[in-house]
Amino acid sequence: MWILSIPDAVVKARWGCSGAQCFQSQPWPPVGLGAPAREFGERAVCYNTSHRRLSTQKLRHTANPLLAIQTSLDSGSLSLLDALRRRAKSRSLAIYLVGGLLRDVLLGIASEDLDLVVEGDAPALARELSEELGAGLVVHPQFGTATVTLDGSRLDLVTARKEVYLRPADLPRVSPGTIDDDLARRDFSINALALSLTEPRPAIRDPHGGIDDISRGLVRVLHRRSFADDPTRILRAVRYEQRLGFRIEDETLSLAQEAMDQGYLAAVSGDRLRHELDRILQEERPAPALRRAIELGILAGIHPALVNSEAIDRLEASGQLRNVTDDSGVDDDQADDGRGGEIPPMLFLAALVYTLSPGDGEGIIGRLNLPGAWAEVVRDTITLRVLEPELAAPGLSASRLVSLVQGFSPAALLAVSRVTISSAAGRMLENYLDELQHIAPVLKGGDLLALGVPSGPLVGKILGQLREAKLDGQVDTIDQEKRLVEELLVQLGGQPGRG
Ligand code: CTP
Repeated sequence: MWILSIPDAVVKARWGCSGAQCFQSQPWPPVGLGAPAREFGERAVCYNTSHRRLSTQKLRHTANPLLAIQTSLDSGSLSLLDALRRRAKSRSLAIYLVGGLLRDVLLGIASEDLDLVVEGDAPALARELSEELGAGLVVHPQFGTATVTLDGSRLDLVTARKEVYLRPADLPRVSPGTIDDDLARRDFSINALALSLTEPRPAIRDPHGGIDDISRGLVRVLHRRSFADDPTRILRAVRYEQRLGFRIEDETLSLAQEAMDQGYLAAVSGDRLRHELDRILQEERPAPALRRAIELGILAGIHPALVNSEAIDRLEASGQLRNVTDDSGVDDDQADDGRGGEIPPMLFLAALVYTLSPGDGEGIIGRLNLPGAWAEVVRDTITLRVLEPELAAPGLSASRLVSLVQGFSPAALLAVSRVTISSAAGRMLENYLDELQHIAPVLKGGDLLALGVPSGPLVGKILGQLREAKLDGQVDTIDQEKRLVEELLVQLGGQPGRG
């Protein structure tokens, strides 16, 4: 166990979090890996759990990042880290925390991402750890990576590696390396930080000036070929810039522009581009990064029709989510995931493609190799936009409205209801989502059989007409429904069944 003893006053001054909150109830120093969560739970109040930024760019925790990390992690993650550290030490292997966790801790943002680099065989170390703890293990030997999971906590271990890119946008040739090789292969200086877990008094390893860039709020590549090596980093730059409230450093921006001018984005596979687009869609606020990616011509480099951000602006302005359930990207999990009713990611995809022609929609589906549920959102959004004049037509009956839009992806319906500039079409879609889609006759198929409708296609036909009559307010009570069934049976010429 590590016990860190730093005078209270020093830590209070350096942490910069509201001291009264953070230090009111705990004697100092009790914090260490493996300590029960309760002991440092009180100290963790300077973080929240929704990954919101709590500080300005005034850096926190530079004096003792390890302490800050320990304090921000839950007891399960701490126990995993402690067990890993002991095992690595017993085998004389150097291990390092890397990447987003360090960046975020310096900014005072909570992070649970435990990314570790091992100077040695990461899968072998992970296997030993999982055997010791009875933890879950997934190994990718070809990438030298492994994931260990225990009681909801997770560690990602990577063998320190060197990467050589032979051609722009190709996957790199990888070989084992040192921690410095591993940092040198990374995208931006703000991510090229490491903290030893096996040295006695570790300081952050920062060979590329990442701490300085974090404090200045800059996203900067490590070398001039970075975007040519991996053009997906252009999307990543925008994502970090907008999420962290940073600025892409001038030279980095012109290198990104050069890489786009060279057409390097066109050489990247759809799956890799979609993965980075998805990372943007999953952001707490995707709109700023999408807008910026459009403004810089990055999305046009992926498909020339992706040039318009107006629907994204309108979606963002449209505010709170209503609960919609389906498997197309809008579901209760997303509505209730503690993100405070934020707009679900798939709605931003819909807004992105809203103005496109059906042909361009198909182009994007193909270019990004979109999975079925995404492709459905794209197609349905574009079809709904085309349908808007019909939806806005005066005197449109409820049953006609339902026949036009039922079966469409809820994400597309919700997105179009929010981004359309036709207020009449928007109202119609809202009416469908809020009310009409839930309206159904009281009578079911079995009831129709009991009323004498012969089994067969007529049951479905009468149920359909019954629903239309209910939608249009022609029937209300169950007796009225029964009467209509009898009339329809006569009209449609069905021979009464035995009931
Ligand atoms: N990385 C990279 N180039 C990429 C993707 C990733 O150099 N195209 C490196 C970055 O250094 C990054 C690390 O791999 O820090 C892990 O990648 P990822 O999980 O995507 O980033 P995080 O740092 O975890 O960022 P986030 O805060 O978005 O999770």
